[in-house]
Amino acid sequence: MKKIAVFASGNGSNAEQIAHFFSDNNDVEVSIILTNNLKAGVLERASRLNIHSLVFDRKSFYHTDNILNILKEKNIDLIVLAGFMWLVPHNILTHYPNRIINIHPALLPKYGGKGMYGHHVHEAVIAAGETKSGISIHYVNEKYDEGQVILQKELKVLKNDTPENLASRIHELEYEYYPKAIEQVLTEL
Ligand code: GRF
Repeated sequence: MKKIAVFASGNGSNAEQIAHFFSDNNDVEVSIILTNNLKAGVLERASRLNIHSLVFDRKSFYHTDNILNILKEKNIDLIVLAGFMWLVPHNILTHYPNRIINIHPALLPKYGGKGMYGHHVHEAVIAAGETKSGISIHYVNEKYDEGQVILQKELKVLKNDTPENLASRIHELEYEYYPKAIEQVLTEL
């Protein structure tokens, strides 16, 4: 049995899609959903999905081994970031080399880095007059959005696109490809 921990800071729609994708797979389970945000929508989703969840604060994440120890106790094989807003600390990075992945709602290396999240990304893509955008699934390192890319999928930016409808089409791509990419990464562990 391969075990996944999902980290999310917000709504958690990707986290839910991932949980659904693996729900009837006997070899893979989403064992825990972790968040830094007590008000994150992902917490309600976790309880509805019957997945154990945990809220942590900045101090325990960056200045203790508490979170690492929980991941170890649960025998987590892969860490999946899905809208998680904080950098992953050194202790977790070194314990999970090539076992932490993220999804970014643009074609990295463009439109990545600190401050490039959610609507900021789509606003920047539209303002720059890009004709295409997409998703990037990548390994996580100590910098925002800079780890090695695993998979990218493109879509067209339409003439009348607003950040909202671009975001919605990007989400559809994410739902389709993130779970499959996770499955692929798990087979290579
Ligand atoms: C997604 O667009 C993802 O690419 C980005 O954050 C967003 C999370 O959305 N990293 P949700 O919380 O899964 O709905």
